[in-house]
Amino acid sequence: MVKKPDIDELTVEEVPSGTGVVVIATVNRPEKLNALNHEVKEAIKALATWADDADHVRVIIFQGAKPGPAPEGKRPKPNAFVAGADVSDFKGKDSATIRPEFEDNVWEAVWNISKPTIALIDGYALGGGSELAVSCDIRIATPRSMFGTPEINLGLIPGGGGTQRLTWLVGYGRAMEMVMGGGMIDAEEAYRIGLVNHVINPDSLMEKGMEIAENLASKSPLTIQVAKRAVRAALDHPISDGVLLEHNMFVDLFDTKDKDIGVNAFLERHTPEWTGE
Ligand code: COA
Repeated sequence: MVKKPDIDELTVEEVPSGTGVVVIATVNRPEKLNALNHEVKEAIKALATWADDADHVRVIIFQGAKPGPAPEGKRPKPNAFVAGADVSDFKGKDSATIRPEFEDNVWEAVWNISKPTIALIDGYALGGGSELAVSCDIRIATPRSMFGTPEINLGLIPGGGGTQRLTWLVGYGRAMEMVMGGGMIDAEEAYRIGLVNHVINPDSLMEKGMEIAENLASKSPLTIQVAKRAVRAALDHPISDGVLLEHNMFVDLFDTKDKDIGVNAFLERHTPEWTGE
């Protein structure tokens, strides 16, 4: 089994919740606006594998570390979720060197986590940072957050699934404007176009994230993964196939213990105690 990553640039905290834990993963490079360098990308990939395998992990939250106090005479660094892939890692590379990094990439690893994932965004979510956010299931942002896909300004395009996952969330026209224009939108606009689920003041961001995470953690760990797969099927299949897939997943759940536990708990008016079976 892959071990929980243990590097300074990615803090991984386990917060007890019901019979399991909510994992809070914090990208910790605030002096570089939490840009994803090679080490952090590898650590997040390891985290994704570990969290998926570890039975006690129910929900995974991603966030960026807050900036520390500014050194004397310097302006403070702005807040960031993740300001992108570390651009210095792109220098001097050609397609042959970059391809292996992108074939097995961090955004796909997060997208493929079978458990619920939440991005808590306080500040810049740009490029690979906005792609990390859209690889999660739910996004919550503070009013001072800014979103964008500025790769076009580097002579690039998004490479972590951004053009696809962003388009699903905000629609074709808005994704075109963001990806081709390379500008930024604020949290209010991101909320208006469906890029974020909630906008919350910085002081309450973690509280809101934990409230949502704890609700998700209170569901059957088995059923919630089926729910995630079923909703995802809408992205991968035409509706007639997707409805059939949902139908089969629904029917299969009738052979699980947790379906009996959930139905009985409702009828007998008590709280279900899930087995995950
Ligand atoms: N990769 C590497 N370093 C980054 C970075 C990134 N994606 N984003 C920010 N940084 C670094 C800056 O180089 C700077 O480092 P330094 O203090 O050692 O010079 C530090 O983070 C602070 O950023 P700075 O640009 O000084 O802050 P700002 O307030 O002037 O501007 C941004 C903030 C977000 C507008 C600006 O940093 C930016 O445009 N970042 C790049 C975003 C980007 O293109 N992302 C897509 C990459 S795929």
